[in-house]
Amino acid sequence: MRLARLPALAGFAAVAALLAGCGGPQSIIGTMNPAAREIEGLWWIAFTSTGVLSVLVFGGLFWGVRRSLRAGRTHPADDPDPATRAREDRWILILGAGLPGVFLTGFLIVAVGTGFSVAEPPSEPTLTVEVIGHKFWWEVIYPEHGIVTANELHIPVGEPIEVRVTSADVIHSFWVPKISPGKIDMVPGRTNVIWMSADEPGAYRGQCTEFCGVQHALMSMLVVAEEPDDFEAWLARRGRPLALPDEPELLRGLEVFTDAGCAACHTMDGRVRTAVTGSPGPDLFDLRSRRTLGALAAENTRENLEAWIVDPHRFKPGVRMPAHRLGEDDLAALVTYLESLGR
Ligand code: CUA
Repeated sequence: MRLARLPALAGFAAVAALLAGCGGPQSIIGTMNPAAREIEGLWWIAFTSTGVLSVLVFGGLFWGVRRSLRAGRTHPADDPDPATRAREDRWILILGAGLPGVFLTGFLIVAVGTGFSVAEPPSEPTLTVEVIGHKFWWEVIYPEHGIVTANELHIPVGEPIEVRVTSADVIHSFWVPKISPGKIDMVPGRTNVIWMSADEPGAYRGQCTEFCGVQHALMSMLVVAEEPDDFEAWLARRGRPLALPDEPELLRGLEVFTDAGCAACHTMDGRVRTAVTGSPGPDLFDLRSRRTLGALAAENTRENLEAWIVDPHRFKPGVRMPAHRLGEDDLAALVTYLESLGR
């Protein structure tokens, strides 16, 4: 391959990578409420203006180099006379400091204005959700209903929701680009508040945006926005009390759960225990109905759940859950029991 083609290929790869990111359930483009749209507008201003500025800067650079080469100026000794040099320096100052100064000041004014504009929801929030960041998953509490779940928030569509965030360990950051007005840090010992709302039903992807350890990149979540009736039904299913199983297979599964020490980290009745720090592992009451395992690390299927229990590090290296050596029958009974919860 000729070396001259390398820059063109690199440019093509960069543009392809850029375009590949434009879309999907976590994209900043195609947002789902007016506040998120304002942030999207800000992104477009930054994207297009920095694009134009880059073309101007690199264009000027190439033009200047070409001009110097043509004039035979390749060494400091070839510098033009002091008067010409002073004139050139003036232009460097005007274009190099003045232009970015004007642009950045303008952008700062627009950005601060947007920040104030999206800070408050358009109307009083109808629901409060508490989200606690853990290494590397999200504990989700509905304080008004006393229920707890993990990694999958359900909200009614078209209504502003108040989201109160904190952390049980290190600093994480909560961001659901399509439906939240920006991101907010989750700081241990402190409660920060943001809001979100989805104009249309759907599953929106969120991502931890503060580096929190080895599995930061796989600390994702889903926000499922559904019609109010569906949301109420979802809440009601989670409000049911945990019943002791009466079938032998399920009883055996419960026994495995206890003997293998699962209860040291996992609760399974979907009830809020502490308002602040939560438990080391996610509550399992509605595990069966969640779409993914390990905060979007794997699809929630029976096969994956079995494989997860045996070796979670296969899906999520660095996860805090240890591998479990269980006999085939014990494993099957445990998974059958977990899948029976919350029915
Ligand atoms: Cu949690 Cu990054």
